[in-house]
Amino acid sequence: TNTEDTSMIHYWTYFLKGVEYTLLISAIGAFFGVLLGTIFALLRLSKNKLSHLIGVSYIEFVRGTPLMIQVMFVYFGIGIFIDIPALIAGLIAVSLNSAAYVAEIIRSGIDSIPVGQTEAARSLGLSERQTMISVVLPQAIKNIWPALGNEFISLIKESSIVSIIGVTDLIYQLTVVQTATYKGVQPILVAMALYFVLTFGLSKLLSHFERKMNHAA
Ligand code: ARG
Repeated sequence: TNTEDTSMIHYWTYFLKGVEYTLLISAIGAFFGVLLGTIFALLRLSKNKLSHLIGVSYIEFVRGTPLMIQVMFVYFGIGIFIDIPALIAGLIAVSLNSAAYVAEIIRSGIDSIPVGQTEAARSLGLSERQTMISVVLPQAIKNIWPALGNEFISLIKESSIVSIIGVTDLIYQLTVVQTATYKGVQPILVAMALYFVLTFGLSKLLSHFERKMNHAA
């Protein structure tokens, strides 16, 4: 066979597509993960017993089962009722999974704010809600940020699980290139290098913002 057809550079559009899907799933997963994660953290911290129970149950169950089975469950479970594209199923599963991890990050960030802050705000006449929004959360965010950054980096790696339902992410695309080129290892090396560029780049970007935030304070 001619070398042109099996050289990895010849398949760059395959890898690019994989990177695009991996970034898309990670970004959307991070967005909804933070949104839903905040809600589950507040549920878990709630003094209302039922809210607390719902928060704890969700967080523990999601963290106690593999992301892989959650992806399968969303895809084939919803698939019983409506035909759902694999990408949408993957997005839902990754978002719901990340929400549980984010909830724990936010909860420990909120817990790290001394109770005196809340007591002071409450005695000045702020409502419980106002205290949370304007006194506790702004301080908690500083403690939460680094752990949240780690979660975003995890998402880039963990989102690779969606390849099992056929979402064309980086892992899926590497298997496509393996099949097309009859090369086992080279596509793995390319995908591995691309994953590293993504996570290392994001980690540098995050620590840049972290430094900025510490200067501002
Ligand atoms: N691989 C582990 C699992 O299957 C961890 C998933 C991590 N997810 C996350 N959003 N950090 O459960």
